[in-house]
Amino acid sequence: MMKTLIYKAEKEAFQRAGEVLKHGGIVAFPTDTVYGLGAVYTDDEAVRSIFRAKGRDEGKPLSILVEGPWQAEMVAAEVTDEAKALMERFWPGALTLILPKNNTVSDYVSAGGSTVGIRMPADETALGVIRAAGSPLAAPSANTSGKRSSVSAEDVRTDLEGKIDMIIDGGTCPIGISSTVLDLTGADIRILREGTVTREMIEETIGRRINDKQEAVMIAAGSDHAGFEMKNALIEHLKERGYEVKDFGCFSAESCDYPEYAKAVSEAVVSGEAQMGMLICGTGIGMSIAANKVKGIRAAVVSDEFSTQATREHNDANVICMGARVIDIPKAIKLLDIFLDTEFSNGVNHIRRIGKIEQ
Ligand code: RB5
Repeated sequence: MMKTLIYKAEKEAFQRAGEVLKHGGIVAFPTDTVYGLGAVYTDDEAVRSIFRAKGRDEGKPLSILVEGPWQAEMVAAEVTDEAKALMERFWPGALTLILPKNNTVSDYVSAGGSTVGIRMPADETALGVIRAAGSPLAAPSANTSGKRSSVSAEDVRTDLEGKIDMIIDGGTCPIGISSTVLDLTGADIRILREGTVTREMIEETIGRRINDKQEAVMIAAGSDHAGFEMKNALIEHLKERGYEVKDFGCFSAESCDYPEYAKAVSEAVVSGEAQMGMLICGTGIGMSIAANKVKGIRAAVVSDEFSTQATREHNDANVICMGARVIDIPKAIKLLDIFLDTEFSNGVNHIRRIGKIEQ
């Protein structure tokens, strides 16, 4: 058990929090909604301590709190003019922007994915802690996963004392205001959650209508017992990204035969019921062999970034197969994101070669 320091939100507390965070510690502090638990966003080990303290699944990403728009530039790979206009008008406050992350962001923050949610809180204590750390902070809510959120320092202490380095007592949080979440990483802005910042306010700020009403893309998912747990984590990730998912089983970790799930998923893809398929077994190989028996399926087993991108660009692969005994869940999430975000190159050579397969 570590000793958890508890300080009132006064000058000394911020200095101390800054030192703790700079040395890889984790600190709880009030935000606009509930108490948050922060770590320096570039520090793998500090970010992992957050997961450990909360008992949180490493497959779930964390969002980042910044002191101002300028810090969003430290975190994001690109900040468009529209993103800047939105920050200018609604920050600090209840607006989370999902942007492509740059490579300073710890992979544990994004759970292996390529994007990150960023928000500037209005709460003075939260801003003071970020300022003291001299860095944006990865900051989920300061409570054990699955337990209710903490709205006071006492709530945090009861739940997490001995597991975190420091708590800053800044009184009781107002809760209430849920932030609007906007995904700025796709072809158009998508409103993932509408809170106090409304669609009309966003459209007025960027000076145009948002076109996010297109049909959601459907992914057919399947696994055998060996891939069951990974499949579930990936389905959750797909849903968080706004995909629709049809799960063809299996539905428990009891031993079963992969060919039937490969067939069901493949048939959903060739019939057009789903746009893409995802199959997980121990190695990914049995699934791909079985899926490729269905005409029109181009199933690829992947375990690295390069091949995942190439199989979309060159082979127009429509089913991704991964091995739960080969790669871990954060890696599988990363590869799935690459698979979904990479377009077929449409090169004549590639079209000709795929045509030969399909003959
Ligand atoms: C099941 O034990 C295992 O053989 C299967 O998950 C897969 O790896 C087949 O290719």
